[in-house]
Amino acid sequence: MEQYELKTMNSEETTRFAERLAGFLQSGDVIALEGDLGAGKTTFTKGLAKGLDIKRNVNSPTFTIIKEYKGKLPLYHMDVYRVADSLEDLGFDEYFEGNGITVVEWAHLIKEQLPSELLTIYLYREEDEKRKIVLIPKGLRYEQLCKEIF
Ligand SMILES: Nc1ncnc2c1ncn2[C@@H]1O[C@H](COP(=O)(O)OP(=O)(O)OP(=O)(O)O)[C@@H](O)[C@H]1O
Ligand SMILES: [Mg+2]
Repeated sequence: MEQYELKTMNSEETTRFAERLAGFLQSGDVIALEGDLGAGKTTFTKGLAKGLDIKRNVNSPTFTIIKEYKGKLPLYHMDVYRVADSLEDLGFDEYFEGNGITVVEWAHLIKEQLPSELLTIYLYREEDEKRKIVLIPKGLRYEQLCKEIF
């Protein structure tokens, strides 16, 4: 499976990469964000929001599960860490099939409900503020997206 990798040295670099990625996104795109607590999933999402011209501050939707922001394209930010199990259907489909960009932190926890094509982004904490970011596209749309970015 094709994968794309980069390293960032601090949160600003992660934000900047996400901001650039946002410029390539289209209506209906779905991004799964994976990585340990504090790896930088929400930080990455803040960068995406910036790239979508979203002015409101994006923070973790852990207790609300889904937050919606208006920008060049709508952003649906989900954090499913507290979703009890993957069988609980909270109507995620409506977002995946919506006009916005959907970003899901801890996406593997709802893997049964995810669309078959999406872009998975893993954030790995290396030493201090260093992160390895790995993008794994699933489906032609996301393979092309990665080729455009890298
Ligand atoms: N290179 C980096 N990329 C991203 N964040 C970094 C980096 N270096 C340091 N950080 C810091 O790490 C923290 C990442 O927190 P963040 O809330 O984004 O993680 P998260 O993966 O969303 O965690 P959670 O699983 O709790 O939702 C922030 O305080 C951020 O400033
Ligand atoms: Mg988070």
